[in-house]
Amino acid sequence: MIFEQVAVGGCQSYLVGCSHTCVAALIDPEISQLDRYLALASRDGLRIHFLIDTHTHADHFSATQEMARRLKVPVVMHQQAPAPFVDLRVGDGETLLLGRLRLQVLHTPGHTRDSVCLLLGDRVFTGDTLLIGATGRTDLPSGDPLALHDSLFNRVLKLDPALRVYPAHDYKGRSFSTIGQELATNPRLQAHEREAFVDIMNNLNLTMPTHLTEALRTNMSGGKTVAQMLAEAAAKVPFYSMDALVEQLDRGDSTLVLLDVREREAYEKAHIPGARLLPRGQLELRVNQELPDPTQRILVYCEFGRISTLAAATLRELGFGRAIALDGGMDAWTAAGRPVSAGPQP
Ligand SMILES: [Fe+2]
Repeated sequence: MIFEQVAVGGCQSYLVGCSHTCVAALIDPEISQLDRYLALASRDGLRIHFLIDTHTHADHFSATQEMARRLKVPVVMHQQAPAPFVDLRVGDGETLLLGRLRLQVLHTPGHTRDSVCLLLGDRVFTGDTLLIGATGRTDLPSGDPLALHDSLFNRVLKLDPALRVYPAHDYKGRSFSTIGQELATNPRLQAHEREAFVDIMNNLNLTMPTHLTEALRTNMSGGKTVAQMLAEAAAKVPFYSMDALVEQLDRGDSTLVLLDVREREAYEKAHIPGARLLPRGQLELRVNQELPDPTQRILVYCEFGRISTLAAATLRELGFGRAIALDGGMDAWTAAGRPVSAGPQP
C-alpha cells in the first residue's frame, strides 16, 4: 500500500494506492491542496481513480468536484449525500476496488446523515465520526447524537482494536490512533449509555465553524468558493506593483489608463491621481463608451486588490488583452502615504 497523509489547518486528507497496480483513491481532499495531491500522486506513481468525501463537510472546502473535472474520475459519497455532482453513490457494506486493495464502506451517520467510515486493511478512515480523543460534533445540519452513539458503539468501536484510526480532522498535529486506544482514553467514549452520551453531545457549546454557509453552499452544490473565483481570475491576469505605478506617474507617462473600479463615493473621496472611474458593477455595460481602444494598457485598481483582479479578468475576457491589476489597492496606497486626488471625475 502506498499511503500519504496531508494535514492542513486541522483537516486531514489521505491518498491511498495499490503498489502493484498504481490505482489510488483520494479521501477528503481540501481545495487549497489540489496541486499537492496531484503532485504526490505523480511522485508516487499513482493514478487517482476515486475522489471520496467521507461526508458533507461544513468546515472546509472539498476539492472532489474540481479534481473530478480535471481528472475525469468519479466523486464518491454515501447515497444520502445531498450534493448533486456525486457520480458514484455507495452504501453500507459496499466495496471499492483499488487494484488489489479493498476499500469497504461503513455507513456511520451521526456527525451528518451521510457520514461513512472507510476500512482498508489495517486501518480505518473515520471521517468526523471518530476523531483522536473526540468525536465529530452533532449540532450541524443533519447531525444526530443518538445516531452517532449507535454508529460508534455498535459499529466503529466493535472493529478490531488494533485497527489504525485516521480521522478527517486533528487540531493537535497527531497523525493516527487505534480503535483500542480510543476505547481506553477518548473522554467522550467513556459515556457508554445513550442518554449520557447524548447529554455530552448536546452540551458541547461549540462555536459555529468559520465559513459554514460558504462550505455548505459549495460542498452541497458544487459551486465555487470566493477564494477559488479570485484564484482563477488571478491566474489570468498579470499584476503591476505600486512602485512601478509611482515611477510611471512620476515620469508623466500617460500611455497607461488607470481605472478605478470602486463606487463613485469612494472615488470622489480619494483616488490615485489621473485615475478614471468605472465602477465594477457597471463595467460590462459601459465598457464600450469608456474604453473604446481594446489595445490600450489598462491598470485596474480597487480598495483591496480583489475586485480589481476580477475586473481585470473580465476586461481580458472582453478582449482588452493588456488589462492588468494593481498589486494592492487604494487602502495600501493611502497607508503608504502616496499622493491622492479627490472630487468628481473631470
Ligand atoms: Fe465534518
